[in-house]
Amino acid sequence: MSNKSNQILKNTNAQILDEFNASIMFDKELYAQDIKGSIAHSQMLCEQGILTKEEQEAIEKGLLQVKDEIESGEFKFSLAFEDIHMAVESRLTEIVGEPGKKLHTARSRNDQVATDFRLYVQEKTLSIKKQLKELISTFITVANKHTTTLIPGMTHLQHAQPLNFGFHMLAYANMFKRDFERFESSYKRNNFSPLGSAALAGTPHNINRFSSSEKLGFEAPSSNTMDSVSDRDFALEILFNISTCMMHVSRISEELVTWSSYEFQFVKMSDEYATTSSIMPQKKNPDVPELLRGKTGRVYGNLISLLTVMKGLPLAYNKDTQEDKEGVFDSVKTVEISLKILNEVIKTMIVNVDKMESACKIGHLTATDLADFLVQKQNMPFRTAYYITKDVVACANSLNKDISELTLDEIRGANSELKDISEEITMYLDLRNSMNSRNSFGGTSTIQTVEQIKAFENWLEKI
Ligand code: ARG
Repeated sequence: MSNKSNQILKNTNAQILDEFNASIMFDKELYAQDIKGSIAHSQMLCEQGILTKEEQEAIEKGLLQVKDEIESGEFKFSLAFEDIHMAVESRLTEIVGEPGKKLHTARSRNDQVATDFRLYVQEKTLSIKKQLKELISTFITVANKHTTTLIPGMTHLQHAQPLNFGFHMLAYANMFKRDFERFESSYKRNNFSPLGSAALAGTPHNINRFSSSEKLGFEAPSSNTMDSVSDRDFALEILFNISTCMMHVSRISEELVTWSSYEFQFVKMSDEYATTSSIMPQKKNPDVPELLRGKTGRVYGNLISLLTVMKGLPLAYNKDTQEDKEGVFDSVKTVEISLKILNEVIKTMIVNVDKMESACKIGHLTATDLADFLVQKQNMPFRTAYYITKDVVACANSLNKDISELTLDEIRGANSELKDISEEITMYLDLRNSMNSRNSFGGTSTIQTVEQIKAFENWLEKI
């Protein structure tokens, strides 16, 4: 091989290696956290007499200039700097000269990246919590309007028992409340600063980790420097929290797809959130909830991916952990847009009360009520009551009626045990009475539903 082609091969390899090794193309997302962390670090170094006041001021001013350059689009992101941490430091040194070279005293990129990434995760945890609060408020608003709207409650996607639609909305409010609490608890658990851990073992410099931790809004510095440069549990926690939250987003989306189908027509998506078909002019498609459902896949992938990256790593820092970021950025963006859109979809959906209520007259939703009546009022063993009720269901079917529509005579004729049954039974078969009879704590009766709404309103006021 000629010298010239050898040279080209070497350069090509170098470029491929840079591309392979670098993270700047994605970790530039962390520029604001990196600059915030560096300012706090420089202030702490100054307090400790490691930097002079002039040096610290030059560094802080320079870092703010770098931030401006990044935000105005002037900043050149080059693979040569490998990552955002090196890129910021080298531009700083270009701007301020010698003091820039002192910034990295008592710090390694290992604790720097752990700090920046943790700051990002903590900030996003707070903003996702805020979005969840808005979404829960929306569910409560819809629930409040529909505490007496009947909807068939299902198990196995088969009609089971009548509910009110407000109660159904509250089931989702509860799921998203637990999501909120999961983000809240992971925030608390992870609110410790890795900064000053240096490469892995701490530093011989006389630093004050409590000071930099406080400046960055952490509760305290992490208690073991080796753990805090290698741990990525905090990233896994946000990935898990997002995955569970998106699973809930996906379940309500699935219901919206079903409810907006021609067969159900329980809700109509506002035109803004429905799409048309390029070929079938009559169509209104639920692309938005379908996509919300579909996006759940990628956030699960991001969780499994990082769990796998972490599982075999010896302590402490390993380059493998550079793979922790893209998935988290992607999951955060996905959940942010999904919660925003779901909130709008729920806010603007048109609830078709008539369709929901007339669907309750299909499938003998009050059959269990009849059996319960026979147990409570006739002292019948439940299994006997169950078989008698089956006869009433068969009678209703033969008359092409729902059990709730049978007359007293028809009920009495369905089984010899019922021939003298009191008129009270018709009340038990009434759909609305049935819903309201489930008045046990947390049940679907309007009274219980209103209580649940009140409890949510109190909770929302407090958080
Ligand atoms: N770009 C790396 C990361 O994201 C930076 C950390 C330290 N690199 C190193 N070789 N010690 O993880």
